[in-house]
Amino acid sequence: MTETPHPVLPKVIGHRGAAGHAPENTLASLEKAAALGVRWVEFDVQLSADRVVVLFHDERLERTTDGKGAVADWTWGDLQGLDAGGWFGAVFAGERAPSLEQAVAALTRLGLGAVVEIKPCAGWEAETAEVAAGVLKEIWPAALPPPLVSSFKEECLEVVRRVAPEYALALNVFKLPRGWKQKARSLGLAAIHCRENKLTQKQVGAMIAEGVTVRAFCIDDTARAEELYGWGVEGVFSDFPDRLLVVSP
Ligand code: G3P
Ligand code: MG
Repeated sequence: MTETPHPVLPKVIGHRGAAGHAPENTLASLEKAAALGVRWVEFDVQLSADRVVVLFHDERLERTTDGKGAVADWTWGDLQGLDAGGWFGAVFAGERAPSLEQAVAALTRLGLGAVVEIKPCAGWEAETAEVAAGVLKEIWPAALPPPLVSSFKEECLEVVRRVAPEYALALNVFKLPRGWKQKARSLGLAAIHCRENKLTQKQVGAMIAEGVTVRAFCIDDTARAEELYGWGVEGVFSDFPDRLLVVSP
């Protein structure tokens, strides 16, 4: 395999911050994760219409804000007028969708490492990866471990590898695809992040034998986490990381 960064992360990674406790992909969610004792979080990033990198999961605004339409059609300034917290609970009303810069400032203050998942809208794969990797290179603090960059989109990882070869890469998959070994080699993957329900012990063994770290999403149950760790899965993403930290800090 190509020589690429291959970091060891904690066994429990807060998903979208701590999405079971606070509105996903907001500063409140990052703060909650840190308060729960989480050391690394995952969050999703995409571009606004004016190419600001913003933390957001869906292509559309409706589920997690009081806005309507596609994130990619809204400027950064207009997105800041939306409530990204009230849908989750009244106490979070007024939370905003933060920029990557704002999130990195929060990570620095909180001492959190991060898996930055590039979640481009259709057609903006290369541009989203290029802009996000550029921002990370520019502002990532030396005090934190380098980010691990993940995506379901191979094109995004190819771009990040070119723009920021110093960052470890992970391919996200719902089901381990045929040809994963070739993808791992050509993309220089440090890890494959697999949806847990389709993952088998045999697949985990094969990826480890290939030198690929395996992580699984999303697990909120200690028994399932322990089973996956037993298979060799290095870490799991959880909306309720506090449940897992009790048994695997
Ligand atoms: O990075 C793991 C996980 O976040 C991938 O799925 O849809 O929650 O971004 P999703
Ligand atoms: Mg994600």
